Amino acid sequence: MLRGGKVGLRARHMDDIPVLRTELYDDVVNGSRADGRPWRPITPGQEDSRLAVDDKEQSHVPFSVVELDGGALVGTATLWSIDNHNRSAHIGLGLLPSARGKGYGTDVVAVLCHYGFVVRGMQRLQIETLSDNAAMLRSAERNGFVREGVLRSSAWVLGEFLDEVLLGLLVQDWKPDSKPDLKPDLKG
Ligand SMILES: CC(C)(COP(=O)(O)OP(=O)(O)OC[C@H]1O[C@@H](n2cnc3c(N)ncnc32)[C@H](O)[C@@H]1OP(=O)(O)O)[C@@H](O)C(=O)NCCC(=O)NCCS
Repeated sequence: MLRGGKVGLRARHMDDIPVLRTELYDDVVNGSRADGRPWRPITPGQEDSRLAVDDKEQSHVPFSVVELDGGALVGTATLWSIDNHNRSAHIGLGLLPSARGKGYGTDVVAVLCHYGFVVRGMQRLQIETLSDNAAMLRSAERNGFVREGVLRSSAWVLGEFLDEVLLGLLVQDWKPDSKPDLKPDLKG
């Protein structure tokens, strides 16, 4: 497990999947805002590409996020589109509604930066988020991400085109000392 100050990132367990599906993806509004693809219902028991893990897929590393205090599941975190030639990758995360606004998102971004820069040797990490997602923008900026541009009308969300903000962080600009005391524990 990778540990931040408040949350840990561990492997996806089978019994995480129904909880994440119900809390994050069955919600049409959250699902539509968090995923570039159109929302559609997933039949329980069917493999869901947003949540099922394919360990052979090298460019996509999904984690489940848990509270360090007690181990409760609180969300998902992903390092995706990992490009080992250009040494860049994207960050994605989603927290259960009851877990938002407690500093966990900021902590998850810190842990994903540690995983991306230290464990995977990335040089650049990137986030795209809707321009009205204040909590995601702040979680990224608190970790040193800078706004690099606005992708105008790039996201079709529930009947309208919305802008997305592109944020980036380079390893030389990352200041892990100001982040939670990360103690990567790779036991699983
Ligand atoms: C976006 C998300 C990951 C942020 O995580 P979080 O735990 O809620 O955020 P934090 O508690 O770490 O807050 C980060 C900052 O945003 C601020 N913030 C939190 N919720 C906010 C809100 N609804 N509106 C405005 N600011 C907010 C906090 O005050 C904090 O600012 P500070 O550092 O100046 O104190 C989480 O809200 C979430 O999962 N949302 C739904 C899915 C989603 O949008 N995923 C991202 C897709 S790109």
